Amino acid sequence: MAQQTLEVTQATTLKEKPNPATLEFGKQFSDHMFMMDYTSDEGWHDPRIVPYQPLTLDPAAMVFHYGQTVFEGLKAYRSNDGDIRLFRPEENFRRLNQSCDRLCIPKVNEEAMLDYLKELVKLDKEWIPTNAGTSLYVRPFIISTEATLDVSPARTYTLMVILSPVGSFYKGGIDPVSIFVEDEYTRAAPGGTGNAKTAGNYSGAYKAQNRAADHQKAQVLWLDGVEKKYIEEVGSMNVFFKIDGEIHTPALNGSILEGITRKSVIELLESEGMPVRERKISIEEVIAANESGSLQEVFGTGTAAVISPVGRLEYKGHDYVINDGAMGETARWLHETLVGIQTGELEDPFGWSVL
Ligand code: COI
Repeated sequence: MAQQTLEVTQATTLKEKPNPATLEFGKQFSDHMFMMDYTSDEGWHDPRIVPYQPLTLDPAAMVFHYGQTVFEGLKAYRSNDGDIRLFRPEENFRRLNQSCDRLCIPKVNEEAMLDYLKELVKLDKEWIPTNAGTSLYVRPFIISTEATLDVSPARTYTLMVILSPVGSFYKGGIDPVSIFVEDEYTRAAPGGTGNAKTAGNYSGAYKAQNRAADHQKAQVLWLDGVEKKYIEEVGSMNVFFKIDGEIHTPALNGSILEGITRKSVIELLESEGMPVRERKISIEEVIAANESGSLQEVFGTGTAAVISPVGRLEYKGHDYVINDGAMGETARWLHETLVGIQTGELEDPFGWSVL
């Protein structure tokens, strides 16, 4: 998979940029997008940056029927001195290929993709908002385009990258969220697609999300798909617990998504001499720790929300308040440190920010 020449067609009219003070998540898109096609004969070919535009697809395109598609999410920031910073993008392209493998989609050249992304972000750099709490969300994704109702991997695909200036993922910013522990529906099962970033994992969660909303809860806490006993994820995030001063997170087991923020949090805490215990954590253990007063914090980690503290858990009809419903000191420190490194306000000893 050799790197190919990137064709750039600039937009002739530029769109009006949104007000950075009122940005929501994923509602507006920049002036340009990246595209590249795959055919069995040519492999991935024709990498190009074009004006942001709608697509024309055959109604039989396989993505519409069997959901053979994968996506990624990462963020770009602009520091005070104007430098563009992408947060650990090589990790996203590594994970994209991992998802491709699971969904039988041909893999991409990760280095080439990083170069193409850098060109796209440089071209649309004016779309990177700089207000506190904002960033440019980057959404790479691949769809199967072959027009057939065959139930088998497609022979043609299109990869695209779109850019969206975003504010907070949750309306309340980093205010603690309340969570419904879902013990009927499950997000993933052993041997399933839980550790791939693929559309069905997200739309398959809507039913439970609606149930959580009926209980006035913002998100779902997912339990394992076999015993409905062990904690897996929270909403579309990984989850961490602080119990008796130690940080714990569910060990990766094939049905949990390998979050890049999860990995960064583990590395950050380890660099501060606070090793994270990756292990099986049951919901009963968490409830018991809350009852005994040893559960100090619960927080989610993800690209979109970065760190999202949990203030309340509903499990089997009981509401449990965590840390008096407030954000804990570890979640606060992690949020400030990660966002500081991402935006360039803090030094980046890990070399995580690149362009
Ligand atoms: C993330 O925050 O990492 C996500 O996956 C959220 C995205 C689906 C909007």
